[in-house]
Amino acid sequence: MTTAPVAAKEVILDIRDVGFAYGGVKAVDGATFGIVRGAVTGLIGPNGAGKSTLIEILSGTLSPDSGSIIFQGVDTKGWGPPRVSQMGIARTFQTARVLPRLTVLENVLVAAQGQEGENPLKAMFWRRSWAQQEDSNREEAKSLLNWLGLSDHLERPAGTLSGGQRRLMEMARALLAHPKLLLLDEPTAGVFPETSRLIATRIREIVQQGVTILLIAHNMEFLSTVADDVVVMAEGKVLTRGTLDAVRQHEDVIAAYLGVGGRTLTPNPSTGA
Ligand SMILES: Nc1ncnc2c1ncn2[C@@H]1O[C@H](COP(=O)(O)OP(=O)(O)OP(=O)(O)O)[C@@H](O)[C@H]1O
Ligand SMILES: [Mg+2]
Repeated sequence: MTTAPVAAKEVILDIRDVGFAYGGVKAVDGATFGIVRGAVTGLIGPNGAGKSTLIEILSGTLSPDSGSIIFQGVDTKGWGPPRVSQMGIARTFQTARVLPRLTVLENVLVAAQGQEGENPLKAMFWRRSWAQQEDSNREEAKSLLNWLGLSDHLERPAGTLSGGQRRLMEMARALLAHPKLLLLDEPTAGVFPETSRLIATRIREIVQQGVTILLIAHNMEFLSTVADDVVVMAEGKVLTRGTLDAVRQHEDVIAAYLGVGGRTLTPNPSTGA
């Protein structure tokens, strides 16, 4: 775990006063924080706090109504998901996205093409373009899937995977794009504890390779093993930031969680949620 204060560290992505509303619903409301390069930043907060919406914004799916996002010193305004991906940001989804009839290996390779922002016509004929790709791409996808414990499932239809296996497959898909920054939306939600521990181990190994991670999680035990520091959101705003232990004692954080009622600040290792 890193110990130096956040302010002393290099920020890879700077979120400045970002706002976004779905129609009349203000989901993100002036959120400001920096993601420290080479660290795992946990993003926590009660249901509806705006965490996933922020990931949609950071990955270019949604465009903020206000504020700016500065990635490695460059304003990302107007970048859509292909450009964001090309610049080195990959993500997973709160509900794992799976093409159920395609094999696990195909799921990883197809998405890698999309993440690279290839010509849409080419994407339509992905099978053909895929056949023309270098073997190295396929070999890399296989070794990522092996590394993530899915070696026995490469040729299975992805629709037959368990929840945890889907999350691992999504991580392989995101890593194939060689991101500098990886955004993970609840990577252990609905995952059995054993898989949750594998995901935690792999996350720390990914960071050791120089990738920066922002991850949303509700499971405090999981967070305590992976996160260098934690940002807390509630009602679209950043409430506080610090070590997990420190933010759990913060009275505004306790009040925000109690106000919602559905979540607690205690670990829930049995579900990983
Ligand atoms: N597609 C949408 N259309 C309209 N409102 C939405 C949409 N997605 C989210 N919201 C609303 O925006 C707010 C923030 O939601 P968001 O999903 O970002 O929260 P979250 O912190 O990820 O919550 P959770 O922990 O439950 O996943 C909530 O009030 C939610 O109901
Ligand atoms: Mg969410």
